Amino acid sequence: MISVKVDNSDQPNSRWYSGSGIYRNVWLTTENRTHFTQWGTFITTPKIDVSSATIHINTKMIAGNGDLLKITIYDEIGKIVAEKIIPVTKVDDSIATDIIIKNPKLWSPEHPYLYRTSLRLLSENAAVDNYTVNTGIRSFVFDSKEGFSLNGIHMKIKGVCMHHDLGALGAAVNVSAIERQLKLLKDMGCNAIRTSHNPPAPEFLDLCDKMGFLVMDEAFDMWAKKKSKHDYHEDWAKWHEQDLKDQIFRDRNHPSVFIWSIGNEIREQFDSTGISIARELAKIVKDIDNTRPVTSALSESDPKKNFIYQSGALDLVGLNYHTEVYSDFLKNYPNQKFIATETTSALETRGFYDTPTDTTRHWPQGSKIPFTQGNKQFAVTAYDNVAAYWGATHEATWKIIKKYDFLSGLFVWTGFDYIGEPTPYPWPARSSYFGIIDIAGFPKDVYYMYQSEWTNKPVLHLLPHWNWNAGQTIDVWAYYSQADEVELYLNGKSLGIKRKQGDDLHVSWPIRFESGILKIVSRKNGRIVLTKEIHTAGAPAKIILSADKRILQANGKDLSFIKVSVLDKDGNIVPDAENLIKFSIEGHASIAGVDNGSQSSMERFKADHRKAFHGLCLLIVQSGKRKGNIIVNSQSVGLAGNSITLSAIN
Ligand code: GAL
Repeated sequence: MISVKVDNSDQPNSRWYSGSGIYRNVWLTTENRTHFTQWGTFITTPKIDVSSATIHINTKMIAGNGDLLKITIYDEIGKIVAEKIIPVTKVDDSIATDIIIKNPKLWSPEHPYLYRTSLRLLSENAAVDNYTVNTGIRSFVFDSKEGFSLNGIHMKIKGVCMHHDLGALGAAVNVSAIERQLKLLKDMGCNAIRTSHNPPAPEFLDLCDKMGFLVMDEAFDMWAKKKSKHDYHEDWAKWHEQDLKDQIFRDRNHPSVFIWSIGNEIREQFDSTGISIARELAKIVKDIDNTRPVTSALSESDPKKNFIYQSGALDLVGLNYHTEVYSDFLKNYPNQKFIATETTSALETRGFYDTPTDTTRHWPQGSKIPFTQGNKQFAVTAYDNVAAYWGATHEATWKIIKKYDFLSGLFVWTGFDYIGEPTPYPWPARSSYFGIIDIAGFPKDVYYMYQSEWTNKPVLHLLPHWNWNAGQTIDVWAYYSQADEVELYLNGKSLGIKRKQGDDLHVSWPIRFESGILKIVSRKNGRIVLTKEIHTAGAPAKIILSADKRILQANGKDLSFIKVSVLDKDGNIVPDAENLIKFSIEGHASIAGVDNGSQSSMERFKADHRKAFHGLCLLIVQSGKRKGNIIVNSQSVGLAGNSITLSAIN
């Protein structure tokens, strides 16, 4: 019998909501006597050119004389592209071999092409063990002057930091929930994720391989010096070596993983103990994998005062925040390679707007300055003009990264709001305001700023909503791309044409409110590219459900994320709607969670009802193990309800 106990009673042990219990999948593997050792196979792609690529395979096994190692490489449609059989000659063998792939298809975030490498151990012609793994053929370089290039092509790392919680679902790993997060980020043009500040679930890395994200795989948020009373520093001495080794062994075959981070804002950066520990950790990593650079996310940006930097153990200098030092980076860190491991920490509440927008605010203003601004809604305006004092707005940060080639890229804090760290508000605020996307998965407006900059698709996004008091002056902002100009109209009357100037990332107009229709048109060479309208909404009249997925696997785990919108009688979203919506389900499925993106709601995540927040809430439906139709119903007093039918298949 195996018994596993979790004792999480010593609190606090994390700076954010970490989850508790066994929140990752655990496998018990039984082996034949002849087998591949755990994590003993390392696959790299050391030589790549247009006509061929070398896949290098190094594998450790317990096998005997006469056994055979059979290596097969399949392409994406399952066709064999290379095969090799190697006799095993001694016990405890380790075999290293090269396999040549002709006309290789390369892996990149845009085209995440995956080969499948299958290793089989044959004993007396029968396969007694196998190890199969996705293999991406790619090469990359960080250069102190040119920044980052992948497969020989210069590109910016357009990344976000992510904690592992899945909002209303908590920390327990769920593949469809992670996939939904990654889809939203992909659509925004994000190409990289930093797994702040711990190793991710292996399922997350599988998805990054398949969907095309570069991953900065991070090990620690603290070393021997604590950040919270009972955090990992208590286990540091006994466990750090083993834990770091396990992480590198486990994750090193993922093509998505491209940087190892040995720590985030580690306190040892401020004293000489940082030197020896950084060297020790970098050596542990390099002994297992010397194909990827090692970094550490540093918050002390003065090289003379930073002992982790002075250790010389970092291949990449990772700076958190401090955009003010970026332009002089090469002066202060001669010949070093740069990555902005963490930036921004701007604050927004979806759907909440303070106008005018002519100032940038820091909330709070400093570490010793009590936070007295704010409002009774515990909200922060969704115009991108508020950041924590150590951070900067999204636009200010991206402008500087964009400007210099040697700045290889950034990881914005954060892709999604997460549970914990509700800066700048105290309780009852309980989740963060940093996300580009709220905790329920609804994009905040700044999502479209990134989309306009990070993708090639035409973008046109207008904010805020159009329900104000007569005569009020409202700043109207627009993000646009793939167009030369935009023109704004109120009730059919043009309010002027605007064009982004210099490094502008949005245009804006102060507009005297008058109810009706605000319309924006983007044009290129005089031709209309896109049109968007926002209508002044009337009273809440009906609910509309829309599911991200209508067909679910009947595996008891698949999820459909259903967006619940409160609309007026004409179908306009009601921007201040807070109606309480009740849900019921017919068929083999259950409610996995509800949410609405509010950062200070005390409503339960596990419930069959939720209040709307700025017109929206979310219902997460989980499949059962039987196939068939699932009918999801919603109702609310005074509103016309709505139903949607999903189906579960095998
Ligand atoms: C950083 C830290 C993150 C998070 C963030 C909030 O300094 O690395 O974990 O706390 O601040 O802005």
